Amino acid sequence: MLKIGPRTLVPPATKLVDDLQINLVGRKHVGREIYSQLLASIQEGRLEPGRRLPPTRELARRLKVARTTVALAYDRLVGEGLLISRVGAGTFVKQPRVLAPVGASRSESQLSPKQEWLDVPVTFIRTHFANRFEFDFRTGIPDASAFPYATWRRLVARHLHPSTVLSGYGDPAGHPALRSAIARHIWLSRGMHVDPDAVTVTNGTQQALDLITKVLIDRGDRVAVEDPGYPPAWRLFKAVGARVEPVPLDDEGLTATALPPDTRLVYVTPSHQFPIGVPMSLERREALLEWAQQANAMIVEDDYDGEFRFGDRPYEPLQAMDPAGRVIYVGSFSKSMLPSLRIGFVIAPAGLTPAIHAAKYLSDWHTMWSVQGALADFLEDGWYARHVRRMRKEYEARHRAVVQGLNMHFRDVMKVAPSAVGLHVCAMATQLSPSDVHAAVSRAVDVGVDELARYSAGRPVSGLLFGYGGVPADRIDEGMTRLRNWFG
Ligand SMILES: Cc1ncc(COP(=O)(O)O)c(C=O)c1O
Repeated sequence: MLKIGPRTLVPPATKLVDDLQINLVGRKHVGREIYSQLLASIQEGRLEPGRRLPPTRELARRLKVARTTVALAYDRLVGEGLLISRVGAGTFVKQPRVLAPVGASRSESQLSPKQEWLDVPVTFIRTHFANRFEFDFRTGIPDASAFPYATWRRLVARHLHPSTVLSGYGDPAGHPALRSAIARHIWLSRGMHVDPDAVTVTNGTQQALDLITKVLIDRGDRVAVEDPGYPPAWRLFKAVGARVEPVPLDDEGLTATALPPDTRLVYVTPSHQFPIGVPMSLERREALLEWAQQANAMIVEDDYDGEFRFGDRPYEPLQAMDPAGRVIYVGSFSKSMLPSLRIGFVIAPAGLTPAIHAAKYLSDWHTMWSVQGALADFLEDGWYARHVRRMRKEYEARHRAVVQGLNMHFRDVMKVAPSAVGLHVCAMATQLSPSDVHAAVSRAVDVGVDELARYSAGRPVSGLLFGYGGVPADRIDEGMTRLRNWFG
């Protein structure tokens, strides 16, 4: 009888490395150790070209470290051209590139993608969100168990019906009902008066940033970002060849005086700076708008989680304060609904909107029509407001529990960065270095938590981010106690 099992399916050329030796005994910087021992094995030929490395999950289990630690080491070696990652197949030691002699066919080098895209740590992202933790404090994750699935299914079904479905393609700018509903939602929740024609529906903030980048940024342009900041934004700018300028923050937000004069675009999160949490002060907003006018620059305002505000009245959005048309406002339903719906929007100044629509059309034509129709009804029929009201109450309790837990268990090593918005709390390390924090987090395998150092486009800052979308209020203290044990 023919036996088909995983072993018989692995051809000899891609044999899995099962005798890989990595020694972490007594090592402090486990991530760095994994990277350098793998590097040495490749350079010394113990891991020969074509060999498949163990899956990150398996190696992490064997080494008793977090899966993301292994994924980061793999990513670094992929970025350095020593490993190659193939979707669905695994990670392999790369065949050394044979350089074509001068004058020979260029087909080999033409097959190589641009290095900037190889530097993007996709393996890390893939494994980071695939991980499961008993206590899940990772950021960017709302409480998916509280989503009103039955209502959503009913609304999507309404728009996936022969009487409502589009037989051809829709408007790249978005479903008319959703563009109107978003304009109304922004007016009610942010006090911004927006014409529905100015709204472009996108697949989340990420696509909005991609469209903006396509229509405004050339290779070599200078783009300023908050430091620490939102990696998917600055990685995108870097990938297209922009010169990314990390700009420091103070307790009023981005330090506008540190912006280089020849900046083409600045990306900011003024309502709740990501990841620190400070709102940009009114004075700083005015200074930033003034600077953009002087420098002939554009500003991207990413308002990603303003729905969950537990304290004072929010400041007016930058775009509402800007008579000169220099601010592009970007919103998302990832935090207030689900990130996997991939839905967001961009509100651009009038002069830019036709180019944004063109970029959307040439990117993916339009966002899924039935989802857009369902979201329009979800907003207009009051379901959205109801869901947000419920979640705001829940998240406020979790926010309080995290701040309490930090003050109770981490007071000697971390300082809470004050914030009253959103889905996470940032804590800055007072004595520990980023690698001390990394070592502790890597060992706490049942706790998922994000290291602040990962968010820096410049000099890494030491600390932790506690997201609370994935941990119920009554389990927060236990999770934080569990993590604290690894900090000695
Ligand atoms: C700063 C920031 N912007 C935007 C988003 C949402 O992005 P998207 O709409 O692409 O899911 C997040 C999610 O974590 C975020 O942290």
